[in-house]
Amino acid sequence: MATIEYVLGDITEQEVDVIVNAANSSLLGGGGVDGAIHRKGGPEILAECRKLRAGHYGGGLKTGQAVATTAGRLRARWVVHTVGPVWSATEDRSNLLADCHRNSLRVAADLGATTIAFPAISTGIYRWPVEDAAEIAHAAVEDAPLDLIRFVLFDQATYNAFARP
Ligand code: APR
Repeated sequence: MATIEYVLGDITEQEVDVIVNAANSSLLGGGGVDGAIHRKGGPEILAECRKLRAGHYGGGLKTGQAVATTAGRLRARWVVHTVGPVWSATEDRSNLLADCHRNSLRVAADLGATTIAFPAISTGIYRWPVEDAAEIAHAAVEDAPLDLIRFVLFDQATYNAFARP
């Protein structure tokens, strides 16, 4: 049974086996978490992402999928990149957001990781309402096959939404 914890902070500073990146399907970087991880982790991460794009992920990473690369200069051992769904008021994409968490956990467990840090996937540029994202994330990580799951929230409002009792 995994310990679940909530931290107000920067995911790139976390000392865990796996840091999850809220990427986009190109795997070639972006803003937000994606930008921070590539900036702090260094060019090796992008180099491995490019290899993935040249190989099995030629068409890009699909929403909900997850794939691992080196963590470069970060304190973690791996970055698991996942593509969150963009919020839609007309289409229920909740299962895709849950998939991001479930697939990231599966990839991390397959690597032998025992500790993982998640950002609040899809709640930034992809505009997913934070309260709803927190519900989905909590449910998706129950019974996870790891020892520690840490949600790293970048602002107080998001922290409050995730860390509610
Ligand atoms: N550490 C932890 N959380 C962070 C950090 C950080 N260094 N930087 C941003 N965040 C938070 C945001 O405040 C938000 O709560 O991560 C959450 C997710 O926001 P985004 O990074 O915008 O991710 P998302 O909404 O999933 O949008 C993904 O944005 O950066 C691009 O390439 C990315 O196209 C993709 C899209």
